[in-house]
Amino acid sequence: MRVLGIETSCDETSASVLHGSGNAVTQDSLVILSQDVHRVFGGVVPEIASRAHLTSIVPVVERALADAGSDTVDAVAVTNAPGLVGALLVGVSFAKAYAFARVLPVIGVHHMEGHLFATALEHPDALPPFTALLVSGGHTMLIDVEAWGRYRLLGRTRDDAAGEAFDKVAKLLGLPYPGGPHVERVAAGADPGAYRFSRPMLRRNQSPQDSEFYDVSFSGLKTAVLNAVRAPEVDLERDRPAIARAFQDALIETLVEKTVRAVIQHRRPRVVLGGGVAGNATLIAAMRDRLVPRGVEVFAPTARLATDNAAMIARAGLFHLERGERSGLDLNAFAAQPIPGLVAA
Ligand code: KG4
Ligand code: ZN
Repeated sequence: MRVLGIETSCDETSASVLHGSGNAVTQDSLVILSQDVHRVFGGVVPEIASRAHLTSIVPVVERALADAGSDTVDAVAVTNAPGLVGALLVGVSFAKAYAFARVLPVIGVHHMEGHLFATALEHPDALPPFTALLVSGGHTMLIDVEAWGRYRLLGRTRDDAAGEAFDKVAKLLGLPYPGGPHVERVAAGADPGAYRFSRPMLRRNQSPQDSEFYDVSFSGLKTAVLNAVRAPEVDLERDRPAIARAFQDALIETLVEKTVRAVIQHRRPRVVLGGGVAGNATLIAAMRDRLVPRGVEVFAPTARLATDNAAMIARAGLFHLERGERSGLDLNAFAAQPIPGLVAA
């Protein structure tokens, strides 16, 4: 089956074509157009995002089909939740019209389920069962993936998502948006130990029955950075790398520790990282340091597939299409929705 995937949930207009069946899938093309305009505002402006999707959706899809070498596809998969509703609606409306005109099936895909599938496009062994850590600008979730479509939510953030924490801390440190890569770059130049922030929701005596065993919280860490930046003795030009490093160390140690707990409790042989923050090389290295000695493999997507893209949507859509699922022409966009197949721990 050849699937056209479309993703417009936030500030990337993306289209992709892939073909295959089961876990044998080949990516024929992937076009990602990032909306640079939001940098001016230091964050995504929803109305501007919707308008930018409108002007770019047709050329982005045309380019993806041309790169794939053929505009013949068997189905269309489109992100319909979660995300900015106006932005999502552009992709959903386009996908429905495209499918209707060509008498093709269309399937709505949950954006975070797409992130679960992204790594498998680059690593053929990144298949269930695995422990998944999804860390994006809007979500932070620890999920036990028993099989594709069978997900158990172990933990989540109580407040800010990991990427959101990176972006807000970047702003406090006077770094551009989106801040994650800038914080990582600046932190790389710092000596360890000049600053230390406490690890949020991380205590030795937590047990799996305790909801804080897997949940995370980053708003206190953000406040700790704010207080550090405002301290009278601080010279931001001098101390920026040390503060960035202390923030990143605290966030990464928390995520790694909670992931290790999940791997041990559920006896999974591999960990799959997804979402924009999974492009953080320091996080990936810390995860490998803890897990490889235990014989656990750690898979992370390249930055291109870690951030929002339509290939992961086409891949997740292919899975649902092969199960015989179809969306109707009443398919709608939703700002929030649970991942299909996700149950609480
Ligand atoms: O998955 P994504 O592209 O979009 C959402 O679905 O939210 O994630 C974007 C987030 C942003 O917050 C960005 O700062 C963060 O991913 N990010 C990073 C890195 N690259 C992107 N955070 C930390 N380190 C990075 N290298
Ligand atoms: Zn995303």
